[in-house]
This record gives sequence, C-alpha cells and structure tokens, in this order.
Amino acid sequence: MKVITRLWRSSLGKKYLMALSGIALWVFVIGHLLGNLQVFLGPEKINGYAHFLKSQAGLLWGSRLGLLAMVVLHVASAISLSRQNRAARPIDYGAGAPPLAASYASRTMLMSGLIVAFFIVYHLLHYTLIVPAVNLQGVDFATYQRKLADNSETPDVYRMMIVGFRHPAVAASYVIAVGLLCLHLSHGLSSMFQSLGITRFSREGRDCFARGVGLLLFLGYCSIPISILLGFGKEVVK
Ligand code: HEM
Repeated sequence: MKVITRLWRSSLGKKYLMALSGIALWVFVIGHLLGNLQVFLGPEKINGYAHFLKSQAGLLWGSRLGLLAMVVLHVASAISLSRQNRAARPIDYGAGAPPLAASYASRTMLMSGLIVAFFIVYHLLHYTLIVPAVNLQGVDFATYQRKLADNSETPDVYRMMIVGFRHPAVAASYVIAVGLLCLHLSHGLSSMFQSLGITRFSREGRDCFARGVGLLLFLGYCSIPISILLGFGKEVVK
C-alpha cells in the first residue's frame, strides 16, 4: 500500500501504476478467454472448469477482489493522468483542429474504456448475477443446474452460454464490446511498453505486436458468440 501511495504522488509513478494494473487486467482477459474456449471441448469440460473455480472460495474471492482493485487503480490513474495532461496543455486548439498523429485507438481510449465498463456490468448481470431480464430470452439461467455425483447441484454454464448467445442482439453486443475492448487493450499494450521503458524494438514493431495480440484476442472471444449463433451446441442443448 505504501509503495502505491508513493508511486501515486508523481506522474511517472501513476504511469507505472496504470501499466502494472493494465498487465494484471491483460492476464485476466487471456486467462478468461482460455477458460471460456473450453466450451468447444463440450459441456463436461467447461462445466468442470466452472465448478472447480466456484469450489475454491478463497481463490475465487481473492481473484475477484484483486481484479476489482486493479480496475479501480487503472481507472483512477487514467482519470488523474488525463486531468494532469489537460491542465498542462497551454493552447486550446479548438474543436475544428485536426488531431495530431494519433491512432484511432489512442483518440478513443476514454470512450472505449467507458463502453467496456458498461459491458462488464452487463456481462456480470448476464452470467454471474444471472438477472433474467438482461438475457432477452425470457428464461431464468438460475434454473440451469446439473447434478453432481453426490446429488448436489452446480450451475450448467455450458447451457447458459449456448442459450445466452442464441439471441442475435446479445451475441452482437458481445462482439461489439469485445472489439472495443481489444482496441483498448492493444493501444494500452503499446503505451505500456513505453511507460515501462521496454523500447528495445522500434515503435512500429511494438505497435504491430500489440495489434496482433489484440486481434488474436478479438478472434478468440468472438468465436464463442458467433459459433453459437451459427448453431454450435444445438445437438446438446435443444
Ligand atoms: C465471448 C466473451 C465472453 C464469454 C463467453 C464470457 C463468459 C463468462 C461466463 C460464462 C461467466 C460466468 C462464469 C461462472 O459463473 O461460472 C463469466 C464471468 C465473468 N466474466 Fe466473462 N465472458 C466473456 C467476455 C468477458 C470479458 C471480455 C471480460 C472482461 C473484460 C469478462 C469478465 C468477466 C468477469 C469479471 C466475470 C466474473 C467472474 C466471477 O464470477 O468472479 N468476460 N464470463
């Protein structure tokens, strides 16, 4: 905590905090994708994985709280740095002035970040808190349970995913949100190389790497709602 307060006092320190919390969020997003891709291995795999996570209360709550702390740190440093930058900018170039040589992603970081935040709230209501009104299917995912060997019940995450993404508007909203998330993450990754002084490769090389990883992430996440919309899982979940 002391280290965080000391870093927070300088702009460079805040940049480090933003970069480090960004790395933690990247790790989560990659881990979550690998976990979710198990849907393609069938109900046993993804349900077994979800059950394993749920049964480790310490691990689950530790990572939930850690994730929340990283999100708060990331957003707070982003807001504070953008305020400082605005205050330090001496000339107002006016609304009509062309943006400097900034990429589309860098100009829309705040906006894509905000939309991603809304998406995460929606996503939590959809699959974690299981609020029936947001799945647009008129079904209650809480009733999707499967029996374990000891006769206890555990959520049928496979069924939730297959039924959830059969709705075109829901699938489309995920594809759009994940697209913005990947744009945000890939620009964040290039900035992080800069903030942490990882400048062994040229700027173009770093940007190209960040775009490539962002694209892979996008394709991985999108493959789930798109395949389900195209009929994946219909033999298992009628
Ligand atoms: C196609 C894309 C995605 C799918 C299919 C998906 C699927 C899921 C599912 C099924 C759960 C509930 C797991 C359970 O209760 O066992 C979940 C939880 C969650 N997802 Fe996703 N997700 C996707 C994208 C994302 C993205 C892009 C993010 C973040 C940027 C994200 C963040 C989370 C979080 C924070 C949770 C809550 C985990 C917890 O219960 O603590 N998800 N996701």
